Amino acid sequence: MIQRFSFGHPIPTGSVEQVLPLCGGSVPFLTPTAEGWTYRMREDCVVYGLGEMPRGLNKRGWHYIANNTDESHHTEDKLSYYGAHNFLLIRNGEDCFGLFVDFPGKVHYDIGYTRHDTLCFHTEEPDYELYVLSGGDENALCKEFRALIGRSYIPPKWAFGLAQSRWGYKTEEDVREVARQHKANGLPLDMICMDIDYMQGYADFTVNRERFPDLKKLSDELKAEGIRLVPIIDAGVRIDDADATCKEGLEKGYFCKKADGTPFAAAVWPGKAYFADFLRPEVREWFGGRYKVLTDLGIEGFWNDMNEPSLFYTPDRLQAFLDSMAALREKDNIEQEEFFSQVVGGAMGLMNSSEDYASFYHEVNGQKIRHDRVHNLYGGSMTRAAGEAFAKQHPEKRMLLYSRSSVIGSHRYGGIWLGDNNASWGQLLANIQMMPSVQMCGFLYAGADLCGFSSDTTPDLALRWLEFGLLTPLMRNHSAIGTRMQEYYRFPEMLPAIRRMLHLRYALLPYLYSEFMKAALENGSYFRPLAFDYPADPDAREVQDQLLLGEGLMAAPIYTQNAHGRMVYLPEPMKMLRLRSVDDYDEEVLPAGHHNLRCALDEVLLFLRPGCIVPVAAPADNTSQLDDTQLTLWSYLPDGGSAAYRMYTDDGFTTDYDAPEHWRLIRS
Ligand code: GLC
Repeated sequence: MIQRFSFGHPIPTGSVEQVLPLCGGSVPFLTPTAEGWTYRMREDCVVYGLGEMPRGLNKRGWHYIANNTDESHHTEDKLSYYGAHNFLLIRNGEDCFGLFVDFPGKVHYDIGYTRHDTLCFHTEEPDYELYVLSGGDENALCKEFRALIGRSYIPPKWAFGLAQSRWGYKTEEDVREVARQHKANGLPLDMICMDIDYMQGYADFTVNRERFPDLKKLSDELKAEGIRLVPIIDAGVRIDDADATCKEGLEKGYFCKKADGTPFAAAVWPGKAYFADFLRPEVREWFGGRYKVLTDLGIEGFWNDMNEPSLFYTPDRLQAFLDSMAALREKDNIEQEEFFSQVVGGAMGLMNSSEDYASFYHEVNGQKIRHDRVHNLYGGSMTRAAGEAFAKQHPEKRMLLYSRSSVIGSHRYGGIWLGDNNASWGQLLANIQMMPSVQMCGFLYAGADLCGFSSDTTPDLALRWLEFGLLTPLMRNHSAIGTRMQEYYRFPEMLPAIRRMLHLRYALLPYLYSEFMKAALENGSYFRPLAFDYPADPDAREVQDQLLLGEGLMAAPIYTQNAHGRMVYLPEPMKMLRLRSVDDYDEEVLPAGHHNLRCALDEVLLFLRPGCIVPVAAPADNTSQLDDTQLTLWSYLPDGGSAAYRMYTDDGFTTDYDAPEHWRLIRS
């Protein structure tokens, strides 16, 4: 059951697809406070959700602010990341309920931070809608929530292959070299992502002709080998009289404006940039149409970036900072306090300043709305612009699209990646814990920068991270310019194991893709916490580092350096597979309970649930070469009986997702 409550005069967010009647009366479970709402938690209460946020699967014990932020240091003390995913799922003894706060600005959550036993939340303004979901267990409530917010975005099947990415592939030759090395080393590959380096002056919808003289030819050549180019598009439009996007946007009055009606400018990668007002349908249509510049060259996928939007500085703020520095110039001794507050603080304060977010406006249904009031809609609306345009241009064809910033609602138009993590073991654990949280909020097509984006990775981290990454829908190795090169062929001693793990991913695709499609078409889950399927098991509720994957698998990834095994909890007997490759593994049926299991660096632990089948293909170097007619079936059938598996097979390109002939039943 879902109850919808409305307070004040909410600004429509587009997050919800089903329109439910409004409820009167009191809100179940919650107690109103002067600011918002509160709820008393028992000691064993678990709070899931909030999507892309710091900390564990269980969000209890910290405070958070849904406030889309370009946060490049993913540490435990942070309050906000790139997405606003205001869905909570609470299990408190007999109480099991979900909350969705539908509000486009900041939402503050205190989940046992001020008082360990108390959850509180409030919106920055008193105008919002609140949905309360109840009357089912965790899985049922998640399903109901997903039905409420609408079908998740479905990418083409090739988007389940490996993506190799790096900020710093500066020429066509750099890109070709990646493809060549993958081939030479027998490493599968489906995508090469192009970062801002391909653009002319970091301007959207341009190509640097000196370094990328013939992008169409490059794209065609690679496509013939089964590899697609996936270029980046940034939110900020370079200010440049000669730039078509800038000129057109100005002529049409499509950029966000300051109070005085002039376009708002801030610096990002291209230097000073304007920001399209994606909240207006006509602007979305215009900006979405601009992608054609690249789709005409054969491009079939994009990543949208910097769309919180990230603001490095505004010219006014920079000037004020430089003036304050000029005043210090005369001094021969800057006091410590001055140094930290004016020099360090002043420089840091330039980026993503809340005052800047309060200095420009959108037009929503003809009304001027200050950006900070609808801040969390911005990135998702950029994704929507692209998604809507693709659906209009090629209604039959799936395009790849994933974004950095997002809001519930934009899960219908694209996936997400989990932003600028760093090459550390803690970030691998964060990736594991964030996956079910974002998927609960509709973002099924998701993944983190494998090996880590910033700082230098290590060979063992690259391998261990891949051992988890091979299960995530978006499997992309991405890194920042200036860091150690981390394409998988850069680790010679790890290469055989890396190759086997990549092949394992491709071999598992009949299962992973089918489970993804079930999750998308039936509002089910792909990754989920153990406690969702074993709600009565108190030990399952404690598990923060194992995930159920679809109907048949449980994953127990290794995420600590130098570990050659780990503790694994089995809520029921399962068949353990300790895999070195798709056809080289140990198997053992283990009883329910806690087990200390060995797992060498080149091995991955997967568990088969009783009565389930996992169809496995022969490894391939590319999704287009995958043969899902010749399958091996992994199963654990304790009674020796038979089982059946619903497998999804289609061409992977077209949008006729619902055709019944895509399903086939496989029997053991
Ligand atoms: C941002 C993105 C990152 C990208 C970089 C350069 O930091 O999050 O993925 O590589 O910008 O475009």
